[in-house]
Amino acid sequence: MSKIILTGDRPTGRLHVGHYVGSLRRRVELQNSGEFDKIFIMIADAQALTDNADNPEKIRQNVIEVALDYLSVGLDPAKSNLFIQSQISELTELTFFYMNLVTVSRLQRNPTVKAEIQMRNFEASIPVGFFTYPISQASDITAFKATTVPVGEDQLPMLEQTKEIVRKFNSVYGETLVEPEILLPENEACLRLPGTDGKAKMSKSLGNCIYLSDTEEDVRAKVMSMYTDPEHIKITDPGKLEGNTVFTYLDAFSKPEHFAEFLPEYNNLDELKEHYQRGGLGDVKVKKFLNNVLQDELAPIRARRAEFEKDIPEVYNILKRGSDVAREAAAETLAEVKRAMKINYFEDSALIEEQSKKYSR
Ligand code: TRP
Repeated sequence: MSKIILTGDRPTGRLHVGHYVGSLRRRVELQNSGEFDKIFIMIADAQALTDNADNPEKIRQNVIEVALDYLSVGLDPAKSNLFIQSQISELTELTFFYMNLVTVSRLQRNPTVKAEIQMRNFEASIPVGFFTYPISQASDITAFKATTVPVGEDQLPMLEQTKEIVRKFNSVYGETLVEPEILLPENEACLRLPGTDGKAKMSKSLGNCIYLSDTEEDVRAKVMSMYTDPEHIKITDPGKLEGNTVFTYLDAFSKPEHFAEFLPEYNNLDELKEHYQRGGLGDVKVKKFLNNVLQDELAPIRARRAEFEKDIPEVYNILKRGSDVAREAAAETLAEVKRAMKINYFEDSALIEEQSKKYSR
């Protein structure tokens, strides 16, 4: 069986370092591993509109931002199809058919949907499109016969729901769809990178994100004001690592080479942590190290972004070509789905013959 990746992001803002360690970095590694037959990376504008219906301009502006972020981290259009969800009408058609296989109560139990409804204060005014987006996400994944879906941990319930739809579809209509596997980061810190203020979630409204497109100076300022251990006041005080954002970021980003290059007094992160816990290591020193580590990782991303920003029409062309390839793949699956569901009237000569026999006497 071919190995196929499908994944994507909602274009509701620029992508940040949480997206990077949670999924983007992995996608690039997978892309360059050469292990996959096809790779589809989707800008989920239609999904973004499910809770931004009154703000289409925001979504439109962020499509190009996300595309630039994708290209700047090293997703390569020669290896990965970058495309825009709304341009593949086949996906909506699949969603309409899958809707018959999912109950309202099952959607109500989806933990991600539940959390999002609370977060947005939707209560009684949940848009139907928003409520059903897990079904549309199942279409995104199955349309490309994806075997592997590299995403962040918050997407786990979506993958569960997709697998259920696949099993249900295949059991009712015959083996047609492929059951996908989720691919999560192995590293605990990457799984849930906190905001710079130590809050569990990075979000634009909280102003606690480091964006991939931030300038060197922005990143430095954000790192220097990061939340650490509020009880670590004097350098000699012993410091705590739990909930200490600077160390969580080091867990997610630092490599042994960084110590040799930027902080040769320590061999590795364990030694640095040990000193911090013992006391005698100040926050500023650790923050300066983290800044070096982040700049090391972000500088090539920033440079690549600057190159692509010089030719925006070409970025749209990349998305258009990717969308054309994606549409073809989705159309193939949709045809199989329709065949399985017996709604392929005009290509079924046996059906036409059977019906004419019935009426020929
Ligand atoms: N829900 C994802 C997000 O919030 C975006 C998305 C839409 C997606 N369809 C997908 C991710 C299919 C993976 C697979 O960013």
